[in-house]
Amino acid sequence: MPGMVFTTRPAGPRVRRAARGRRGAVGRIGAWPSPGRPPYERGETTDVFRVVFYHPEIPPNTGNAIRLSANTGCELHLVEPLGFGFEDKQLRRAGLDYHDLADVHVHPSLEAAWETLLPANVHAFTARGDRLYTDVSYAPDDVLLFGPESTGLPDEVLTDPAVTERVQLPMLPTSRSLNLTNTASIAVYEAWRQHGFPGARPTGA
Ligand SMILES: C[S@@+](CC[C@H](N)C(=O)[O-])C[C@H]1O[C@@H](n2cnc3c(N)ncnc32)[C@H](O)[C@@H]1O
Repeated sequence: MPGMVFTTRPAGPRVRRAARGRRGAVGRIGAWPSPGRPPYERGETTDVFRVVFYHPEIPPNTGNAIRLSANTGCELHLVEPLGFGFEDKQLRRAGLDYHDLADVHVHPSLEAAWETLLPANVHAFTARGDRLYTDVSYAPDDVLLFGPESTGLPDEVLTDPAVTERVQLPMLPTSRSLNLTNTASIAVYEAWRQHGFPGARPTGA
């Protein structure tokens, strides 16, 4: 079953069943408001990184990830259960003014998400990863998978056959973990940087 696409716009239908697009990806909804232009030219390519939040719990983290999607052109896929509703004030405040520009998909399970996202490389981000995030060569359409705030990715997800590798951001020995969306932002920018920030507004413009 394809994932569900949500807009966080207050007006209009809030939930739409997604149409399948190229490579089975879920289609984007949410129009860039005229006369603006998106920072990432999604009309010309669907080769964008896909961020997956597995069971996210804290609304502002997902709100900030919505903003990350709007600013970089990455897709955001949320795997249920979610620890909040889309009416959540903190989520809406964190994603303020960005919900129309973001590409957000909600899936009822990880299996449903895989149906939409695979085949693709899946980089599972964990503080116990065995590969540095800067040593990964990210390809367009790669999946960057992140775990819930309180527990991280469970072992059954980390060892899921769909997962290509387990990736770590370095930390000091006394640290336990970084914030979920800080981690996702660093990873998305590294992946985007490796490709020369395609679609980004020119510097100074
Ligand atoms: C707040 S952390 C989860 C903390 C959880 N208590 C644990 O021990 O895994 C939420 C998510 O951020 C990502 N993350 C946090 N720190 C990371 C790091 N140093 N390297 C890679 N991913 C990290 C992981 O995807 C993690 O599941």
